[in-house]
Amino acid sequence: MVDAADLIIRNARLIDGTGAPSTHGDIAVDDDRIVGLGDLGQAHAAVEIDAGGKAVAPGFIDVHTHDDRALLIDPLMAPKVSQGVTTVITGNCGISLAPLRTSGRPPAPLDLVCPDGDGFFGEFDDYLAVLDADPAAVNAACLIGHASLRVEAMDALNRPATGDEITAMRRRLERALEAGAIGLSTGLYYAPAAAAPTAEIIELVTAVQAADGIHTTHMRDEADHVTESLEESFAIGREAGVPVVISHHKCSGQANHGRSTETLTLIEAARQHQEVGLDAYPYIASSTSLGSTKLTDANRVLVTWSTARPEAAGRDLAEIAAEMGLDTEAAVDALMPAGGIFFMMDEEDVRRILAYPGTMIGSDGLPHDEFPHPRLWGTFPRVLGHYARDQGLFSLETAVHKMTGLPAGRFGLADRGVLEVGAMADLVLFDPETVIDTATFERPKQPARGIDLVMVNGRTIWRDGASTGARPGRAIRRGAEVSSQPGG
Ligand code: ZN
Ligand code: CU
Repeated sequence: MVDAADLIIRNARLIDGTGAPSTHGDIAVDDDRIVGLGDLGQAHAAVEIDAGGKAVAPGFIDVHTHDDRALLIDPLMAPKVSQGVTTVITGNCGISLAPLRTSGRPPAPLDLVCPDGDGFFGEFDDYLAVLDADPAAVNAACLIGHASLRVEAMDALNRPATGDEITAMRRRLERALEAGAIGLSTGLYYAPAAAAPTAEIIELVTAVQAADGIHTTHMRDEADHVTESLEESFAIGREAGVPVVISHHKCSGQANHGRSTETLTLIEAARQHQEVGLDAYPYIASSTSLGSTKLTDANRVLVTWSTARPEAAGRDLAEIAAEMGLDTEAAVDALMPAGGIFFMMDEEDVRRILAYPGTMIGSDGLPHDEFPHPRLWGTFPRVLGHYARDQGLFSLETAVHKMTGLPAGRFGLADRGVLEVGAMADLVLFDPETVIDTATFERPKQPARGIDLVMVNGRTIWRDGASTGARPGRAIRRGAEVSSQPGG
């Protein structure tokens, strides 16, 4: 029984994050925790809000981000907060802002997170200390990137690491895990890590096992060899004894369209005897460094930024190439360093992967791009509004589960991702009837509609279409006890 609370939201459709059917009722928050749920007719709070039947859900967890530096330089995190996101998992695809001692421009795709070597943190503890001292609006849980470790440990990236180099990387990784990093990510597709054999990854992921962490992977191949890459990822998880998350699962290139039936069957089979998760974003186009992607896999390419030719941002690569009198490969060389959007997936695959019960939602948004892929601002409301409500791909409860309870369990985020008395008060109040993304490939920096209020650790960070300025986010350490008590 709640007799006093800081806040009560009444008359809400409570979607608890477990995938269970929603219920109608009230929710009370005191300090940073949920202290009451259900019919709270007798209770009183300093602030009371009538939800008018709209939905209250746990704040969304963006499991696939490159927000490492965005948390520091754009701490209100409007692209994410405006969607109802309250926690981000950073350091994906082998790229993390820490730990890495380097100078000059790092090799692509590390430059997507920070174009300047001096912006990386030599020690992971120092990165966490900055997040603690000058928090962002949202919580963050951090992966360590394999490519970041490689760039520091190796003088040449186009070969397997030697035993000594693996030892050096492993020490750096272990130290970061001790400080609270949640695991290791790889980006075996990309040049800085493509020469790393499976055995190199297993040796590193074994350190993650000792720390009870997780391994996420942008696989070696998401196109013609997607099934071999899945097998490699499963083998790494099995050998090291660590849960594996297949990042932004897709089947790239026309020749592979429709193969998600095959890949999801393999994933389902692997899940019978080991821990495997996956995430996806709700679009048929990917986005990364322009020079990193095989252009023949894409039907159309848009330029997201270019250091050599900034005016190319937002334009079609084919058009730019024609203007320059170059073929597209030569045009890419002229634009680099640069980023791109690649239309390379099949809508049926996207739908099938999103609907698979083990699939979590991750934006893979690139926060520093001039003309970003709309997934940066649109992912979560697009799943809720377009795929769940308008297309009926799954229920609203299932959509919310894929962005709350499912990822909280997978990534070990204690007391988050569920509406439960005693859980952290990371909440989103939204209108299931109107919630929708508005960011498009033509106009990518547009906030969602229908997200009324967002709260992190009991503090309101977004209301009436704007940030409140509050920055109550925490750097979540793996395995750490959450400090304050209900009502404390
Ligand atoms: Zn990736
Ligand atoms: Cu990524």
